[in-house]
Amino acid sequence: MAFARETIWIIGASSGIGRELAIQLAGLGATLILSARREQELIQLRQKLGENHSVYPLDVADLAAVDKVAGQITAHHNKLDRVLFLPALYKPAAICDMDINFAHKLIDVNLTGAMYVVHAVLPIFARQQSGQLVLCGSVAGYLGLPNGQPYSASKAGLINFAESLYAEAPAYLDVKLINPGFVRTSMTAKNDFVMPMITTVQHAAAVIIRGLTKRAFEIHFPRRFTILLKLLSILPYRLALWLTRKIMIKQ
Ligand SMILES: NC(=O)c1ccc[n+]([C@@H]2O[C@H](COP(=O)([O-])OP(=O)(O)OC[C@H]3O[C@@H](n4cnc5c(N)ncnc54)[C@H](OP(=O)(O)O)[C@@H]3O)[C@@H](O)[C@H]2O)c1
Repeated sequence: MAFARETIWIIGASSGIGRELAIQLAGLGATLILSARREQELIQLRQKLGENHSVYPLDVADLAAVDKVAGQITAHHNKLDRVLFLPALYKPAAICDMDINFAHKLIDVNLTGAMYVVHAVLPIFARQQSGQLVLCGSVAGYLGLPNGQPYSASKAGLINFAESLYAEAPAYLDVKLINPGFVRTSMTAKNDFVMPMITTVQHAAAVIIRGLTKRAFEIHFPRRFTILLKLLSILPYRLALWLTRKIMIKQ
């Protein structure tokens, strides 16, 4: 059965979707490597899931730390089956109110951090001649949305990076991109607007886990919402941007 006896590195496991993925994947028999910055949350999660799982605190914006943890994982685990990259920072604001220092940090985590992780794990998968690499984007990356900057821009970059990675991937490497709609987590708790078709972390994690075993590159949900945004993003700019302003700025 998929996931049983697999070793899966979840980066961004201390809360939200990543934490719930850890709970459900542990229930399916996977051995987890749990990473994020908040060590205490990860230790508590390991206590809940079992001592066979391990905790490697990590700030993905720190290249040396990413390389060090990847090295430690190689030394302590015979095989790494999947790596799930979920870290992201988010602060909703209009661009004129943008906190430029936070914007810099956000790009370091959401986009550069993903590149650091990919750079660190590709040699591991090459040695094994197998592996799955999963990056978490967002529907916010389909089209620049109001009040999401620079988060939307970082996710557009991540989607583009995942596409390049997929296009280049050797046969032994499976690359997946997760693009969720709204999910109820501490991230969306910052939003003061109506979030259409918002779902739970339990539902999100279940859909993602199903998607990890399928052939499709992109895992996106809830479909009624993501398909609407996909359609919006392929309209001519004039119409797409007019609709975006009309629908989203007025809320
Ligand atoms: N919730 C939604 O509606 C939604 C929609 C679309 C996409 N997504 C994406 O889904 C993913 C998970 O989001 P979420 O909603 O579950 O948010 P969340 O609860 O805030 O989780 C974010 C995770 O990223 C970790 N993280 C943040 N900065 C980090 C860093 N520098 N190094 C390592 N880990 C770091 C956090 O842990 P620490 O703070 O302990 O480091 C936490 O575990 C994100 O990529 C997000 O963009 C979410």
